[in-house]
Amino acid sequence: MDSLQIISNAIETIQQRTSIRTYEVDLSLDKQIDMIQQCIDHLPTSPFGGFTRFEVLELQGLKKVQKLKLGTYGFVKKAEKFIIGIITEPSKYDLENIGFLFEYLILYATQIGLGTVWLGGTFNRNAFASQLNLRTGERIPVISPIGWAAQRQTLRSKAIKSIARSRDRKIWSQIFFDSNFNTPLSVDEADEFTTPLEMIRLAPSASNSQPWRIVKEHNKGIFHFYLHRKSSRSHNLISWPEFSRIDLGIAVSHFNLTVEQLQLDGNWLIDRPDISRPENVDYLISWAAK
Ligand SMILES: Cc1cc2nc3c(=O)[nH]c(=O)nc-3n(C[C@H](O)[C@H](O)[C@H](O)COP(=O)(O)O)c2cc1C
Repeated sequence: MDSLQIISNAIETIQQRTSIRTYEVDLSLDKQIDMIQQCIDHLPTSPFGGFTRFEVLELQGLKKVQKLKLGTYGFVKKAEKFIIGIITEPSKYDLENIGFLFEYLILYATQIGLGTVWLGGTFNRNAFASQLNLRTGERIPVISPIGWAAQRQTLRSKAIKSIARSRDRKIWSQIFFDSNFNTPLSVDEADEFTTPLEMIRLAPSASNSQPWRIVKEHNKGIFHFYLHRKSSRSHNLISWPEFSRIDLGIAVSHFNLTVEQLQLDGNWLIDRPDISRPENVDYLISWAAK
């Protein structure tokens, strides 16, 4: 089964997705959990390769005290079910890989009507790990609650959204470039790739930092993906340097799903082009139209 058969309309789903931090309890999710399990079993292959597994964790049977310990530090309210992303073995692109695959699950959950929120920082990693009997060497970079969004999001949920400036996205000229990092990409030059790029722009990222930078080769369907590193002084609980690598995996996933939906054929390859780049920008991967 390829990815398109599961996510039927990536463009619409990407536009619908927004982080949900307050959930509705007491409504059955059994059917949806089965569907998520099926999606886990049919994840697409990512261009990064690597070793991951994904688990659905249900808190219902656990005592309240344990639930509190599992905690999301009050960032998430009334969630009882979580998808857990596990890197089973380290590899060069392990974080980009889990970003790519986990976003696929997030979008699938969105498509079937569920709320989600990526959590990389504000959860008690050890408590979740102990529920899952992790094997030696395994680690949990990200989790997300899954459930029905509460009709009314709590004040705290709204405050977190406003602190993270969740609705804001960088404008095209800050993130998309034509041939080099000095020339902003125009919509005319982006042409049929306008929508795939726009879908990157809407992607979620840790602290909404949007670290992706894309350079298009002039007059060609070739796109180079770069990571913009933040200064080390700006790190906080949820903007660890490694989250930017996960964010890039998410950007690649949005671009990939959108070109598939629009039937724009191409390949991913890792081959750094000879383009001079700012000091705090690192090359990751490229996509070339066939
Ligand atoms: C890798 C990653 C880690 C994140 N970690 C957290 C977190 O620990 N706590 C939290 O409340 N939100 C977290 N977020 C959610 C972002 O704050 C959110 O996606 C961003 O502000 C954009 O808002 P939106 O998802 O509503 O579009 C994370 C997002 C990503 C992609």
